[in-house]
Amino acid sequence: VKIFRPVFDNKFVVGRFKTLVWCLPMAFFRDTNTFKIFGEFDSEASSKMTGAMYDCVTKQGYKELNLNFEGCTKAFSTEMVTLCAQAQKYWQQSVDISLKLPSDAAMARLFNNANWAHLIDVHSHAESRYRGYTHARTMRFNNEVEQFEVVNRILDILLSAIRHFKRSDLSAMEWAINEIADNVINHSESSVGGFIQLTNHSQRKQIEVVVADSGIGIPTTIRSAHPEYSDSEALDSAIREGVTRDPQIGQGNGLFGTWEITKKSLGMFKLQSGWANLDSDEQVGLRISKRVTPIKGCVVSFRIGYDQAINLEEALTFSGKPHKPVDYVDVHFELDEDGRPIFNLANESSGFGSRKAGDPVRRKLRNILAMSDVQAVAVDLTEVHLVSSSYADEVFGKLFSELGPLEFSSKIALIGVDPLVKQLIDKAIVQRMQQPGST
Ligand SMILES: Nc1ncnc2c1ncn2[C@@H]1O[C@H](COP(=O)(O)OP(=O)(O)OP(=O)(O)O)[C@@H](O)[C@H]1O
Ligand SMILES: [Mg+2]
Repeated sequence: VKIFRPVFDNKFVVGRFKTLVWCLPMAFFRDTNTFKIFGEFDSEASSKMTGAMYDCVTKQGYKELNLNFEGCTKAFSTEMVTLCAQAQKYWQQSVDISLKLPSDAAMARLFNNANWAHLIDVHSHAESRYRGYTHARTMRFNNEVEQFEVVNRILDILLSAIRHFKRSDLSAMEWAINEIADNVINHSESSVGGFIQLTNHSQRKQIEVVVADSGIGIPTTIRSAHPEYSDSEALDSAIREGVTRDPQIGQGNGLFGTWEITKKSLGMFKLQSGWANLDSDEQVGLRISKRVTPIKGCVVSFRIGYDQAINLEEALTFSGKPHKPVDYVDVHFELDEDGRPIFNLANESSGFGSRKAGDPVRRKLRNILAMSDVQAVAVDLTEVHLVSSSYADEVFGKLFSELGPLEFSSKIALIGVDPLVKQLIDKAIVQRMQQPGST
């Protein structure tokens, strides 16, 4: 019988007592450089795992780590993205990390789709090809150009996944995601860049964003301006208005504004860095606590609710003045001569053959239309030479049915349409209107 050294407090569990282990919400075992997780990979398990990895590599000089998640029954993006950022740093230091996926098939799929498997064990697991719209797989960004690309991909997913967006919600999300990602580039000195994941919790009507880096951490940067601060004090001050490590570089608005948006939208905000954690949500308010093991770098996770429109003027007031963030439609779409945003179907669609390709496009069009002062959208089909009937129905047939004939014709202008494509769209609309239950 192999006896694992249990690392959790006051409990001694032998490996063969599997049933006992399964009853526990979480158990973490360490056997030299092999770590096993049973149950939920929660914040406690994550702390133990990252602490043990640090101990193995930095203190004991191991060049190989084995992470066994076979018994893992639940995992959360904050802990997993944190692990990805740490694992990538060790890979850079030539440490070989092997990952055993959860035995549970759905969990294993999640590890692959979310790109966690690849980022933890780059040799054995291929990069995620998940292009779905429930979440954005964990993406890495090393500079401002890559930051721009990943934020755009995230906004695209948001617009395609969420029903009936409010314009201010999208501006708030774009602003916050950019600020937190910008901090990685500006302050973290992370040699592997930053890692970002988006999850849409559609039932709660919240989006969750996690941004992790494995750089020098908030306490270190804040202490360049306030050497006397402890790690907890550094986190507490970093989220206050106007606190920055260097007023020549920043204004100290990013963390403060993001925290305000999460409060106004009844979401949550969490910072982990060095020896401290900071948590803020509606139930408990603001809590700052000491960590058992330190985080090398910084992890920011936050949730923004989109059930009700966010009052951006209230959320983003800096030095007493309301700040108006850039507007998604203004920035991402050119306007035609009638002032309508031009929606280039060839750029917005991953293909023209299937319903699957059409569904996110329709949602995106509806979201743009729902943004209060957009009167109409010009859908540019110049580069589209053929569409399947199912695609035409998914985008135009269903949109016609959802909006009704008058609203469709006043709000959707098709420009540059090839006669054949026009015929196919017409036919899809006529067929849909003949279906029972259509408007
Ligand atoms: N990822 C990070 N790594 C290290 N330090 C960070 C990180 N993110 C934030 N900080 C620290 O927290 C401080 C406050 O961040 P915040 O985004 O609120 O303001 P800023 O970036 O300095 O200015 P602004 O966001 O207005 O450009 C930063 O000045 C920096 O010291
Ligand atoms: Mg900032």
